[in-house]
Amino acid sequence: MGIIIAIDGPAGSGKSSTAKEVARRLGFTYIDTGAMYRSVTLEIIRRKIDICDEDQIEKIARESRIQFQWIGDKHHILLNGEDISDEIRSADVASLVSPVSAIAGVRKILAERQRQMAQDDNIVMEGRDIGTNVFPDADFKFYMDADIRVRAERRIKDYQSIGQELTVVEIVRELEKRDKIDSSRLHSPLKKADDAIIIDTTNLSFEEQVEKIVKIIQQ
Ligand code: DC
Repeated sequence: MGIIIAIDGPAGSGKSSTAKEVARRLGFTYIDTGAMYRSVTLEIIRRKIDICDEDQIEKIARESRIQFQWIGDKHHILLNGEDISDEIRSADVASLVSPVSAIAGVRKILAERQRQMAQDDNIVMEGRDIGTNVFPDADFKFYMDADIRVRAERRIKDYQSIGQELTVVEIVRELEKRDKIDSSRLHSPLKKADDAIIIDTTNLSFEEQVEKIVKIIQQ
């Protein structure tokens, strides 16, 4: 097992972009676990599976082949060989991903794959339960958070980049709903690990967020 850096926190806290850059600077492998839950959710939407049909949903999670690939400086996600990087960022996927990721069987399957991914690599893994559940013994744990309005404003740009125009109010509503489900679910909810370092990014620039984490690791 290599060095494991766990970064958890809610959507829009800056964790994806920061984790990616920290991994690049340290030469570590970057793993976006939210993208894995989103990929399973996309497949459920495409196959029109009922959200209550947990057996079918678990089957999809078990059968879906999720891979990450860097093409230039863009991080791509492949589902059964198809590039679905943009599609998993849609508002439709965002609105269904929290209920899907609350299913115990889905979490078990994906957490196991996440542990396997870290077998022989140094990794930066980001998500909701990395420091609490996937790698409770991670070498470094960070918990990123920010004011909800700032988080929503960051998300607006993400939606614009895939051609979806949402208002701040709509995104605040989406984030509040997701935060509530993610942090109150029974199985490995979103929660700061007791030994995680909190990084509040409300007033931090991207560069400052990255620097803060890299400095702690290099010390
Ligand atoms: O980070 P994100 O917005 O792409 O994550 C999408 C959803 O996936 C999030 O609302 C909850 C779920 N998720 C999870 O339950 N556990 C993780 N480790 C990562 C994401």
